Amino acid sequence: MPVAILEGTSLSKRFGALRVLRSVSLSVAAGEILGVVGPNGAGKTTLFGVLAGALRPTEGRVLLNGDDVTAANAARRCRLGIARTHQVPRPFLGMSVFENVLAAAAFGGGLAGQAAQEGAAEALHRSGLVDCANRPAASLGLLDRKRLELARALATRPRVLLLDEIGGGLTEAELDVLVGLVRDLKQDGMTIVWIEHILHALLRAIDRLVCMAEGGVIAEGEPRAVMADETVMRAYLGGVA
Ligand SMILES: Nc1ncnc2c1ncn2[C@@H]1O[C@H](COP(=O)(O)OP(=O)(O)OP(=O)(O)O)[C@@H](O)[C@H]1O
Ligand SMILES: [Mg+2]
Repeated sequence: MPVAILEGTSLSKRFGALRVLRSVSLSVAAGEILGVVGPNGAGKTTLFGVLAGALRPTEGRVLLNGDDVTAANAARRCRLGIARTHQVPRPFLGMSVFENVLAAAAFGGGLAGQAAQEGAAEALHRSGLVDCANRPAASLGLLDRKRLELARALATRPRVLLLDEIGGGLTEAELDVLVGLVRDLKQDGMTIVWIEHILHALLRAIDRLVCMAEGGVIAEGEPRAVMADETVMRAYLGGVA
């Protein structure tokens, strides 16, 4: 059994009367790429919030390398090696693209001086944003803001990278580049959890797949077997208005 680097045990999250996560347990092995799919509103982004520390679970625990980090906030977890991209990008609008990434390298990655500058430059390069480095973040369109989310996450030098629908809106050629990047990051030893609706891209990158619906995990395992699972197909058809 491979070592779990990130683990959620019986995670539940309620917003008032709404039960958004219902006892979700998830184990991510060191070095694996885990895909997460599920219809809109399944609770995928909420799960990332709980794993990354932006949201406190109502019940359950989050373990990083076997250590309980449930009480640690997002900044602390980032320093411990968990980084995420946001489905709705959140750059510092008043800063340049480079400054945004530099801030991530410094505050999230704990780098200073030359090392922070180099870390930021590399993250920009990997995310395809070098040409935008000196532009104000506020001037970026949605796709470049998504690239900036990725650059900021990479600049923190994560051990575990949580990607939330980073492929939406990309062209086929851009998706190829993204899949290549995810594979490269795995080669570098990074562990990745990737929420994505663009299945054909996801399936080219992942080792294992989890499907969520209505706040729970309804199937997990070998990616194509999960997609062929009857419960999974029903969940998707049920999601069509
Ligand atoms: N802060 C919040 N307060 C109240 N309800 C919330 C909050 N955040 C999410 N929800 C609700 O929780 C449910 C799950 O939302 P979540 O964003 O986790 O789904 P998702 O699987 O990421 O969906 P999508 O594929 O559309 O991104 C939705 O019904 C959503 O409206
Ligand atoms: Mg979401």
